[in-house]
Amino acid sequence: MSGELSPIDKAKFVAAKRSTDFVEDGMRVGLGTGSTAAWMVRCLGELVREDGLKIRGVPTSTRTAELAREVGIEVVSLDEAKWLDVTIDGADEFDGNLNLIKGGGGALLQEKIVATASDQMVVIADIGKEVENLGAFPLPVEVIPFGWQTTKSLIEELLVSMDVLGRDATLRMNGDHPFVTDEGNYILDLHLGRIGNPHQMAMVLNQMPGVVENGLFIDICDVVILGYGDGKVETRDINQGTVEEERLDFVESDNLFTDLQE
Ligand code: A5P
Repeated sequence: MSGELSPIDKAKFVAAKRSTDFVEDGMRVGLGTGSTAAWMVRCLGELVREDGLKIRGVPTSTRTAELAREVGIEVVSLDEAKWLDVTIDGADEFDGNLNLIKGGGGALLQEKIVATASDQMVVIADIGKEVENLGAFPLPVEVIPFGWQTTKSLIEELLVSMDVLGRDATLRMNGDHPFVTDEGNYILDLHLGRIGNPHQMAMVLNQMPGVVENGLFIDICDVVILGYGDGKVETRDINQGTVEEERLDFVESDNLFTDLQE
């Protein structure tokens, strides 16, 4: 089955597999959203089913909750868990300070709440996510549907005074309708090209009425695990200042791949 995976999927898989080393028996674990995080949920599910790993998972979206239950992970709400030992999630971009853009999958609000309520946030990514400056990936901003066009205009006006290359905001669509988040909100994608001051951008956007949250994760991520298509994995820890490299065997396991048949 693994032979059918593309190099990018192998990269995501090995990063996800390595991230399970951060999970120990009894932990409360934040479960991210997206294709890389889905690999991590499958890997954890396998450890739960086959090695008896005991964890409680707090999912960051309804689709992650469904997958977690499907693979055998006990799912609890954030309020039940109260605080998390670790959150493992993907990212759309990360820079040298491990600041992130997230929300490509539209789950940025729950992702940020869950990551912030964790002792440690571990990001799993393929090499394509590393950037020198954040902003080539459109920055997702979750907004209240009421008056969203006014909020969009106000954001575009605000961007005039910011250190960015582009200033267009587009409403994320799902076919003919606006994309709706798990909280019933809309997403505006800001096409900024380059964000000169991510800290300032994150703060200023959240001061705008109508904005619920933005996809900049500043000083939240502790560790990035970078996967490569050949099985190489690099683990960068911003607090320890360490970079570790290793190679993971790509072990075939039918259990891991069953939900890919859909
Ligand atoms: C979901 O809202 C996002 O924040 C994802 O974590 C991010 O888009 C990365 O997704 P992939 O792992 O699918 O690239």
